[in-house]
Amino acid sequence: NDDPRIHDIKSKIRVVPNFPKPGIMFQDITTLLLDPKTFKNTVDLFVERYKNKNISVVAGIEARGFIFGPPIALAIGAKFVPLRKPRKLPGEVISEEYTLEYGRDCLEMHIGAVEPDERALVVDDLIATGGTLCAAMNLLERAGAEVVECACLIELPDLKGRDRLKGKPLYVLVESH
Ligand code: PRP
Repeated sequence: NDDPRIHDIKSKIRVVPNFPKPGIMFQDITTLLLDPKTFKNTVDLFVERYKNKNISVVAGIEARGFIFGPPIALAIGAKFVPLRKPRKLPGEVISEEYTLEYGRDCLEMHIGAVEPDERALVVDDLIATGGTLCAAMNLLERAGAEVVECACLIELPDLKGRDRLKGKPLYVLVESH
């Protein structure tokens, strides 16, 4: 993609070697947020893609999907639903476990937040193995929603997380190797 906004976004993501543990190249989007023009361009790129697509719900994944999901939801006129780590949501929830490099984690969604036949967009900052997005999609599908697409700022294509998304499309702004 030769949109100059994409080049700017990529340049504002800070890569921190060996965080949070040795061998991990952490993709830090907090540096992008410090430039309001870059932050706005990031949201705008998603809004341009998803306005007029009849999306009724933007589901954001804790934690950084909570930064980008809500401005996208507001701009396209959709509701925002947080998908949270365990024991954070006070109401009745459905849960999906997923595998991490070491151990397991879980995402939860409030029952009743999403209704059958809603059209959903799933938003996060980054896809690595794809386990997190897969769990998110399962939650939405269990509620009867149709997942239209998953959207992330960053993909680590070497990890082939895209292959775990049940054939659904994934849209990313930048790839990191
Ligand atoms: C990161 C990232 C995604 C997930 C992607 O979150 O923000 O949510 O990992 O990894 P996957 O594709 O291999 O599942 P992290 O685990 O750092 O949790 P946090 O957002 O709570 O910090």
